[in-house]
Amino acid sequence: MKITLRLILSLIVAVGAVAAFSAYFQVGQERHRQEEELARRSRLLAEGLQETVEPLVQKGPSERLQRLVERFGNRERLAGVAVYDSKETPLAVTKSLAAALPTAPQTIREALADGVESGGFDRVDKREMHLFALPLRAAEKVLGAIVIFHETSYIRARLHEIWRITFLRVLAQAVLISLVTLLVVQWTFVGPIAQMAEWMKQLRAGGSIESSPLPRGDLFAPMAREVTTFARHLSVAKTAAEEEARLRQASESLWTSERLKDHVKTKLGGQPLVIVSNREPYMHRYKGREVEVIVPAGGVVTALDPLMRSCGGTWIAHGAGDADWDFVDERKRVRVPPDDPQYTLRRVALTSAEENGYYYGFSNEGLWPLCHIAHVRPDFRPGDWAHYQTANQKFADTVLDEIADFSSPCVLIQDYHFALLPRIVKEKRPEARIALFWHIPWPNPESFGICPWQKELLYGMLGADILGFHTQYHCNNFLETVDRTMECRIDRERFSVIKEEHLTAVKPFPISVDFSPAHQGSPAAGAPKSDRAAILKDLRIKAEYLGVGVDRVDYTKGILERFRAVERFLDKYPAYRGRFTFVQIGAPSRTHIKRYNDFLAETDAEADRINWKFKGSDWRPIVFQKRHHNHQEILPFYRTADLCMVTSLADGMNLVAKEFIAARDDEGGALVLSCFAGASRELRDALIVNPYDSEQTAEAIRYALEMPPEERTARMKRLRETVKENNIYRWAGRLITELTQVRFEQDPVARG
Ligand code: G6P
Repeated sequence: MKITLRLILSLIVAVGAVAAFSAYFQVGQERHRQEEELARRSRLLAEGLQETVEPLVQKGPSERLQRLVERFGNRERLAGVAVYDSKETPLAVTKSLAAALPTAPQTIREALADGVESGGFDRVDKREMHLFALPLRAAEKVLGAIVIFHETSYIRARLHEIWRITFLRVLAQAVLISLVTLLVVQWTFVGPIAQMAEWMKQLRAGGSIESSPLPRGDLFAPMAREVTTFARHLSVAKTAAEEEARLRQASESLWTSERLKDHVKTKLGGQPLVIVSNREPYMHRYKGREVEVIVPAGGVVTALDPLMRSCGGTWIAHGAGDADWDFVDERKRVRVPPDDPQYTLRRVALTSAEENGYYYGFSNEGLWPLCHIAHVRPDFRPGDWAHYQTANQKFADTVLDEIADFSSPCVLIQDYHFALLPRIVKEKRPEARIALFWHIPWPNPESFGICPWQKELLYGMLGADILGFHTQYHCNNFLETVDRTMECRIDRERFSVIKEEHLTAVKPFPISVDFSPAHQGSPAAGAPKSDRAAILKDLRIKAEYLGVGVDRVDYTKGILERFRAVERFLDKYPAYRGRFTFVQIGAPSRTHIKRYNDFLAETDAEADRINWKFKGSDWRPIVFQKRHHNHQEILPFYRTADLCMVTSLADGMNLVAKEFIAARDDEGGALVLSCFAGASRELRDALIVNPYDSEQTAEAIRYALEMPPEERTARMKRLRETVKENNIYRWAGRLITELTQVRFEQDPVARG
């Protein structure tokens, strides 16, 4: 309140001073203007009388002179007229003034003495009057003077009026200023601060972060952001501590972020952890004039960001965002996540020719269809291969630069973009511990054999100490491929390949997600409760049952097959028309590749066709949300859907299936899962389907909606146990343990 009062008083004093100064100025000007006006009028009158009066003056006082002054006296503001001789003796004076002029006033004396006209204010009969004296002459000799007296009380009244109006204006302004200041202070400061204080109080008392909305005003936005991040940290730390305590009590050995952090610290003993992937975890993009940060869609980022947040270290990736380079230092590094930095992202720049050849061409038009076998022909072009080699060399140089100062660093390389990278790094730094994790399937040797550079790729990969796949099946395929292609020794008992005296262990590490309640948007960790009604209202549809699918729009994901299964389901079970809606969240992906672009259009058209077929007024069977959604936007769908569909035609693991399960802390919902996704090996309680079989998938949809509630809960409980146990921290813990156990001493019997 003190501040408000001070603010109001300062404003009032400032406004009052300005008003007083300008009124003072105005009064001065007005007075001057009035005086000039009086002088002008007096002069006119005096000059008008001059000719008549001059001959009379010489004769002394006379009747005629007196009549003349009486005629002009007391008219409007004219108080009177007087005629004096040169000795200051009055010859004739308007009667009402006569008594008040025992002696000639100063103005008259001056005019007579100097022989020039004189005017000014003077007091006559205790009244202020304006006097104007015009000398009367005969042959250059001053005979006397004619004097005009004007009332001036009206001028004073006018000046008083100016002051009065000024005062009233200042008063009104003061009231207005006080009110506006009070309101502005209340709205801008007091309200938001009180709201923030209340919010913090609720948080301290164990309430949820979202329970009362934070002030959103411009002024407090940066502070609100910081406080929210701070509160989230506290909330996550609190939940993690509670979970740790609970686990200790239950003697459970679950992998958590905290446990991984300790584990990595012990295992790496100060050596850095360096991750390499093509896709960066945070991308700066221009959106109009603003810059937005997005987390790109895809399994690698979903899995590895929580791991890096926990362990710290450096993540090397292609800087693909158009605003990326505005946010890096001279070593092309930026701390991320931007709102809560926990690790370093080092961006690698690629020319657009390199990006086209290495990323779009060789990686995604060659290796991707090659490994997925989803009926899209792989294209292998020599130009793309050259760019693939250059890009691998570029990333390798960056890795070598990052690990230059360390004796035994750990490097985790991700995916098919970097088959050559392990060998390049290993040749330069043999003591570096290198793992290559292949996030996509590995096909059978016959399929892989069509790649013209298969030997070079395998040789590059075998530079790694550990080669990880999601499933044993992919490990077996890899060993078979190596066996048929390379000269080397394969140790099937230890699942390893020995090439040129270097051993590469080939192992399954089924990747997973962060199961923690904080990441999964659980109200227990302070997140708001998800509301299905709000989702449906947003989508402007009415439905009783909700299905969800979340994918990059990629031909391997079986999105068309999924839509057709929904169509078959509605054909077969018409009772669900108008009651079941399937929401497909689809992030457009790799759209510079024609097949992807065409596929996006095909998916759109298929959704349209089916929607048209079952057309209803406020219901649609399929809602295709064709844009990038962040994790927070997807969570409400996961948390409220009756079923989630993952119908990949081929998939290394598929983390959408696991994210859905991790989000269902209500133990509700059912998962329809493709038998061609790696996840189907672990998630036995999902409804496993062959996505090419629309009849079977349609049946799975029906069963997902109609299964007895106890069965639904029991299935979800078991699924959750699996994902909870085999979470991303366990994946990373196992991989890092294996990596730190790599022996570099030469095995005398190991000859490739
Ligand atoms: C798959 C790959 C990842 C890739 C992701 C997204 O999950 O295994 O390496 O990052 O798709 O694809 P994009 O081409 O957008 O990175």
